[in-house]
Amino acid sequence: MNTLPEHIAIIMDGNGRWAKQQGFLTRIKGHERGVLALRAATTGAAELGIKYLTVYAFSSENWNRPKPEINALMRILVKSIKKELKTLNNNNIRLNAIGDLSALPKDCQDELQEVMHATAGNDHMVLTLALSYGSRQEITQAVQSLAQQVASGQLKPEDIDQAAIAGALYTADMPDPDLVIRTSGEQRVSNFLLWQISYAELVFLNVLWPDFSKEHLIQAIAQFQGRERRLGKTSEQLK
Ligand code: FPP
Repeated sequence: MNTLPEHIAIIMDGNGRWAKQQGFLTRIKGHERGVLALRAATTGAAELGIKYLTVYAFSSENWNRPKPEINALMRILVKSIKKELKTLNNNNIRLNAIGDLSALPKDCQDELQEVMHATAGNDHMVLTLALSYGSRQEITQAVQSLAQQVASGQLKPEDIDQAAIAGALYTADMPDPDLVIRTSGEQRVSNFLLWQISYAELVFLNVLWPDFSKEHLIQAIAQFQGRERRLGKTSEQLK
């Protein structure tokens, strides 16, 4: 329990392959089942005492998918956040979102704001949905905002340190992830939290996201706990 990660980030991958494997004609069924897996991961993480769970739900690159799939994902998103409000409140979980939220359809933005507002007082765990999220785009807007502060005389260039950069990211009020889990067997970070995962442990699981359960979460945490996090030091220094 001592080495329980405080913040877990998940790249939920494999919905399309799951749908194909099951013989469904569209990938949408995979996304629908993915919501159930997300619910299991969220309640499971809250039960284990994880303080922050951040999931990659829709990347800035996902806008390049076929229009019907994008529409279906947005519809699933609106329906799910509305439906899961009860689960979030029952488990004392606050909903948060990061990404270029202004690019989302209006009903999606409204529903997100409503549920974030309705769960704002919950303090057991924070569930963050990364939506229309891309890490390079996040870093670019952070650099622009710092440059504007320099141009207006609010900030001196020499005051731009790591904390200033971290504070200009969408994740300003969160600790960095300790553990990143990617499902489906792919071993990539795909433009997810590039600054924030500098020292995170990466765990790749051979399970398609719709099949993900609390047991897989525990398996990933066990792998994390078996690793030595040296953060640049030697093994001897840690002893
Ligand atoms: C990756 O699988 C998954 C996504 C792009 C979407 C993730 C969305 C959900 C789990 C459900 C909706 C989320 C919320 C927050 C309600 P893929 O489609 O890339 O699968 P593939 O690699 O097998 O094609």
